[in-house]
Amino acid sequence: MHRIIVPPIKSQGIKTKLVPWICALIPQNEGYWIEPFMGTGVVAFNVGFKNNILSDINPHVVHFYNSIKNKEITPSIVREYLEREGKLLSKSAENGYAHYKYIRDRFNKHFSPLDFLFLSRAGFNGMIRFNNKGRWNIPFCKKPDRFSKAYITKIVNQVAKVSSLINSNWHFHNKDFRDIIHSAKANDIIYCDPPYHGRYVDYYNGWTDDDESDLFKALKNTKAKFILSTWHHNDYRDNVMIKKYWDEFNIVTRDYFYHSGGKIENRNSVVEALVFNFESKIKKHNYELIPKEEQLRLFEAREKYISDRLREAVNV
Ligand SMILES: C[S@@+](CC[C@H](N)C(=O)[O-])C[C@H]1O[C@@H](n2cnc3c(N)ncnc32)[C@H](O)[C@@H]1O
Repeated sequence: MHRIIVPPIKSQGIKTKLVPWICALIPQNEGYWIEPFMGTGVVAFNVGFKNNILSDINPHVVHFYNSIKNKEITPSIVREYLEREGKLLSKSAENGYAHYKYIRDRFNKHFSPLDFLFLSRAGFNGMIRFNNKGRWNIPFCKKPDRFSKAYITKIVNQVAKVSSLINSNWHFHNKDFRDIIHSAKANDIIYCDPPYHGRYVDYYNGWTDDDESDLFKALKNTKAKFILSTWHHNDYRDNVMIKKYWDEFNIVTRDYFYHSGGKIENRNSVVEALVFNFESKIKKHNYELIPKEEQLRLFEAREKYISDRLREAVNV
């Protein structure tokens, strides 16, 4: 597989690490790639379909990619913007926070896609979250020098990469999934990555029993092939929706090991699932996965590396 294309927008549910697994499952198809829950778009950018319909209930991600499509946002515009705002951030009062608040408030009034990019990259932990009035609701990453030369170049390259892919065969819609799935034809593939039922939610990520039930009905009735990402179980409980709806289709699973914070008890694993309505010879569990012990070893080595660097920095 080619190197994974990383999009310029970040979000907490981003599927970058699961892209190779999803790609391995995709059957040969001539039709459209349809993604009703596009989020950052990372999956679509990597599967290599010619014709793409991407949609999301969050208007800001859709606006961002439509602005790239119609060239309102180009790599050079992004560079100029980030250099200017990055400089203002580094000089701003309250260790950068004053300028972060200024951009946040400006975004909450005018919803500029460039300000959206700024907030996505200067917010805490690369998260996207909106409050109950639909306003940006992520705290500052507390790094006034966030937009270093190298970081700006990295983002500009990401914008350049997705700009080179997006052409008139890419269609971006700000619609509910119910208004997208029914238009799929037999030779299309629908990839669904909805907010996970029973997990964290925000303004654009609410997910109710009715949503899950409507998604089930829409996917059961579609003539297209579909792949659904969901969670199967974690260390504490099962995803009840698997038994309720998804068990009647094919399912493959994969251990996903994630880490939040430095404490040992924050190391959790969740078993991710791909549910699909076609035949596949892909391994049922842990497709090309390195063992959990090996993942743990890598995390520990990384942590040691970071704490050694911190110690060095304090000692100099
Ligand atoms: C888990 S994220 C998708 C992440 C994406 N696959 C990625 O890798 O970046 C779920 C997305 O569903 C969107 N969403 C939530 N409810 C929706 C609905 N009813 N219709 C369409 N999109 C919805 C959210 O805005 C969010 O972007």
